[in-house]
Amino acid sequence: MNYRHSSGVWLMAIPVAAIFAFAGEAAAETVAALSEACKGRLDIGVAVSALPGNYQQEELALLRRHFNTVTPENDMKLLHIQPREGSFNFEKTDAFVAFAEANHLKIVGHNLFWMRDDETPAWFFKDGDKTASREQVLKRMREHARAVAGRYRGKIACWDVANEALSDGDEFLRPSKWQSLIGDDGVEQAFRFAHEANPEARLVYNDYSIESPKKRAKLLCLLREFKDRGVPIHVVGIQGHWELDCVPFDDIEETIKAVGKLGVKVAITELDLGVVRRDRWWADGGKHQAELRKLDPYAGGCPSDVLRRQAEQYGRLFQILLKHTDTVERVTFWGLHDGRSWLNDWPWKRTDYGLIFDRRLQPKPAFFDIVAVMKANALK
Ligand code: GLA
Repeated sequence: MNYRHSSGVWLMAIPVAAIFAFAGEAAAETVAALSEACKGRLDIGVAVSALPGNYQQEELALLRRHFNTVTPENDMKLLHIQPREGSFNFEKTDAFVAFAEANHLKIVGHNLFWMRDDETPAWFFKDGDKTASREQVLKRMREHARAVAGRYRGKIACWDVANEALSDGDEFLRPSKWQSLIGDDGVEQAFRFAHEANPEARLVYNDYSIESPKKRAKLLCLLREFKDRGVPIHVVGIQGHWELDCVPFDDIEETIKAVGKLGVKVAITELDLGVVRRDRWWADGGKHQAELRKLDPYAGGCPSDVLRRQAEQYGRLFQILLKHTDTVERVTFWGLHDGRSWLNDWPWKRTDYGLIFDRRLQPKPAFFDIVAVMKANALK
């Protein structure tokens, strides 16, 4: 099982009584609506799965009150929507789109092509028992774009077209079948096919750590090349799965400025600020993983000083984003509240608190600090 896709198990993490003790809509209405506080400056989005059926009424009320944009967390990914060639699962995504439309929420399609092998169905790279040719893979990409981006043309106006294609290592592109079977122009082809399928859509390149100098250099190179070659791209998505006390504020600001100079917009597409550090998971060839699997320091609750630091860091981030609203157009949080976050399951099971609403749907200190930043910098 790919536990990156397992946010549906959240219910097991909280006592049954708590599920029915959610704050009601009336209580939620006593606080400012986040998307209202950000109006005219930033769109405020949230990633949700299997909308609306997977959510309680109170959660839907919270969503409608604070967010104006939604991203399907998993249901539109190639693995889910076309698990076998030519066989599409549109049931969940049609319901998602209908709910968003009925509630006047903008939709970000996520994502057309996640360019890593562990996130791509095996059939995509096969020709019977053999490996598929470049032509065959390109044909499949084109057909996938037509089937999915084409189906929602006029409904989904913004697409994460290529996800995580750049390498963390010394290579330019992530080593993968995407690269080895297509060659170096796979990302370009993805954008061309997306544009062909939905010519009005804003097209996003989405990745993690692209704010870091090493990966940023590759990103800028990709953007310059796209410009030279007339490849349609409108937005860079900085995913923003950061960790408490390690938010790379300066790198984020540098990246926004550099991307803006190239005439491309920026969105923070998958924001959370986890409080249980996970960087050691990948360190030293993974030798700490057995020990980390037992680590769940805040199972009984998150200490108030941790929530305060988180609030300050969220506030500082929004201050930076506000300075650059000529370039930054949207912030999307990766989950509606702490009980709905992938951070509770990945890369190991724990109780994390990365979002701005808690498990009882109450706004956290981070929410209030963000609203305070927005108010202090209100449009005149
Ligand atoms: C990546 C993907 C998202 C999501 C997150 C967390 O960032 O772009 O769709 O899967 O990982 O799981």
